[in-house]
Amino acid sequence: MLFAMPSLRDALLLSSVLAISVHARPQDTFFGQLVTAVDKILGPIVQVVDPSALVNGSLPNVVVLVNNVTNTTTATGNLVFAHHIVGNTFNYTVETWKNDIVLAASKGIDAFALNIGGDSWMPGQVANAYSAAKNLNTTFKLFFSFDMSSIPCASANDASTVRNYITTYASHPNQLLYNNSVFASTFAGESCKFGASSVNQGWINTLKTNLTNVYFVPSFFVDPATFKTLTVMDGAFNWNGAWPAGNNDINLSSDQTYLSNLGNRTYMAGVSPWFFTHYSPQTFNKNFIYRADDWLFAQRWELLIQNRTQFPFAEVMTWNDYGESHYVGPVEGVQPMSQAWVNGFDHQGWLDLMKYYISAYKSGTYSDITKDRIFTWARLYPVNATAPDSIGKPTNYQWTEDYLWTVVLLTAPANVTQACGASTSTSSVPAGLSKLKLALKEDCSVNVTITRNSTTALTFSPAGFKFDTKPPSYNFNAFVAASPP
Ligand SMILES: *[C@@H]1O[C@H](CO)[C@@H](O)[C@H](O)[C@H]1NC(C)=O
Ligand SMILES: *[C@@H]1O[C@H](CO)[C@@H](O)[C@H](O)[C@H]1NC(C)=O
Ligand SMILES: *[C@@H]1O[C@H](CO)[C@@H](O)[C@H](O)[C@H]1NC(C)=O
Ligand SMILES: *[C@@H]1O[C@H](CO)[C@@H](O)[C@H](O)[C@H]1NC(C)=O
Ligand SMILES: *[C@@H]1O[C@H](CO)[C@@H](O)[C@H](O)[C@H]1NC(C)=O
Ligand SMILES: *[C@@H]1O[C@H](CO)[C@@H](O)[C@H](O)[C@H]1NC(C)=O
Ligand SMILES: *[C@@H]1O[C@H](CO)[C@@H](O)[C@H](O)[C@H]1NC(C)=O
Ligand SMILES: *[C@@H]1O[C@H](CO)[C@@H](O)[C@H](O)[C@H]1NC(C)=O
Ligand SMILES: *[C@@H]1O[C@H](CO)[C@@H](O)[C@H](O)[C@H]1NC(C)=O
Ligand SMILES: *[C@@H]1O[C@H](CO)[C@@H](O)[C@H](O)[C@H]1NC(C)=O
Ligand SMILES: *[C@@H]1O[C@H](CO)[C@@H](O)[C@H](O)[C@H]1NC(C)=O
Ligand SMILES: *[C@@H]1O[C@H](CO)[C@@H](O)[C@H](O)[C@H]1NC(C)=O
Repeated sequence: MLFAMPSLRDALLLSSVLAISVHARPQDTFFGQLVTAVDKILGPIVQVVDPSALVNGSLPNVVVLVNNVTNTTTATGNLVFAHHIVGNTFNYTVETWKNDIVLAASKGIDAFALNIGGDSWMPGQVANAYSAAKNLNTTFKLFFSFDMSSIPCASANDASTVRNYITTYASHPNQLLYNNSVFASTFAGESCKFGASSVNQGWINTLKTNLTNVYFVPSFFVDPATFKTLTVMDGAFNWNGAWPAGNNDINLSSDQTYLSNLGNRTYMAGVSPWFFTHYSPQTFNKNFIYRADDWLFAQRWELLIQNRTQFPFAEVMTWNDYGESHYVGPVEGVQPMSQAWVNGFDHQGWLDLMKYYISAYKSGTYSDITKDRIFTWARLYPVNATAPDSIGKPTNYQWTEDYLWTVVLLTAPANVTQACGASTSTSSVPAGLSKLKLALKEDCSVNVTITRNSTTALTFSPAGFKFDTKPPSYNFNAFVAASPP
């Protein structure tokens, strides 16, 4: 049957056939060879799927969607990625990557955006990540987010780092493809010329010349009004749109500015739960917060869900950026000297809340709640307290207030009591998702209780969740807790 392929290719070129049916099943021993052969002859395969998902038949065929199908991804709906800092994975093994992939996939994440810097050990960890995904036989995808604050990009030769990553993984089964092209993103890169006369030409030479097709959605820190000159971009990732720009709640104004300058190109929104970084001038010299009060993570997801048709992609920032306190994955790997504000602050309590929102973002409807859940988080120290900490308070510290932020998912109406010492508050709450807050004023332990008809349905006193008026340091990280699933 492989001999028939060249004529099949001719046939496809003359038609707008969307799928070819190949009599093979994944469990057949020659399946891998077949996919490789089809790939070689027809160009990058968009997707190999079980035909029952596509056709109303029971033939044990494999349908191989070929590269003329331009909107398969659109057909599958919104996608959610998580930004994964490969720089923090120095001691990862394939097993560690597998654990991350299985966990992320179980929460509705479709792919990791692998943030790649210029360190010589990184290709090895990238290989581990792709091996892990392949070994899992998962549909989970990976793609590159080139960190241009680390990868050199002044000369034409500098393009080879970026190009090598693209070509090495272009036909890997777990590479994210979009519009028949290898999906790629960046952090920064708005000044990269790669030896060319302009940034746009430099990136065209790097990603759009003599290379497999690349769908390029960078996060350039530029005025969106200049997008029209950046023809290399197939879309834009709005890194800073994930947090309020000032002392206000999150809104869609930054997203709107991007959308209105992108024309028909693709918009990728950012979504993040937190931001606090606390490096001294002697280390990375970054000491600031962005405002995350008023349930930032929840509010941001709700905005993306309301406008989900304009937001085909959302990237969670981040899976594991410990240095900036916006990780949602486990604390593992090698921290970037962030132990002082990260150890003891596991953020995985946010994962199931995120999962609930991701499901609504993809489907358009909030799913039924089958078990009461409590998600609750806060800074552990008063914003105005002083601490023996020579680094000083983070810039913009005045933008946060001392509250416990709680989200409940309720199977039925209930009374929810949040308590911490003398500060207590009881609210009558409908079934579904609700956001509640409680002022934190004195040394106390957090306790949230759900009651119905005076009967306790759930009481949650997370271990270690203690507000402390005498901070040992200026740690503005969030303590995050979730009641058991
Ligand atoms: C793809 O589809 C278009 C229009 O549907 C058609 O003109 C073209 O020949 C097809 N084949 C390839 C390989 O692009
Ligand atoms: C699918 O097959 C079933 C059973 O043969 C049939 O009733 C149904 O109409 C078919 N649907 C489509 C869309 O062809
Ligand atoms: C592309 O999407 C449109 C709108 O959803 C649909 O009508 C069309 O059949 C799709 N084309 C392909 C090639 O999937
Ligand atoms: C993946 O598929 C291969 C080949 O079919 C099989 O040997 C392996 O056990 C599978 N791995 C998992 C995790 O399912
Ligand atoms: C692309 O390949 C052509 C032909 O080999 C060559 O002339 C050209 O310089 C290459 N361009 C880049 C940017 O590599
Ligand atoms: C979001 O949705 C609201 C309500 O449908 C609409 O008024 C607003 O323009 C949308 N914003 C964006 C950025 O699409
Ligand atoms: C997107 O807009 C550009 C510039 O206006 C145009 O050349 C291109 O054909 C459009 N693409 C699609 C898919 O509409
Ligand atoms: C990596 O190092 C960290 C910090 O020492 C350690 O906690 C973790 O277990 C190590 N991970 C692996 C996979 O070796
Ligand atoms: C912290 O101090 C500022 C200025 O003195 C005040 O406006 C603010 O309300 C205080 N915050 C809290 C939580 O007490
Ligand atoms: C939490 O609050 C509930 C209801 O007020 C109470 O019954 C329970 O003892 C409290 N738990 C702790 C550990 O304080
Ligand atoms: C909540 O508390 C109020 C006041 O005690 C009571 O009337 C109401 O029935 C309670 N709601 C539920 C769902 O238990
Ligand atoms: C609460 O009480 C009301 C009225 O007595 C009753 O209809 C309802 O089933 C009760 N709910 C629970 C959870 O016991």
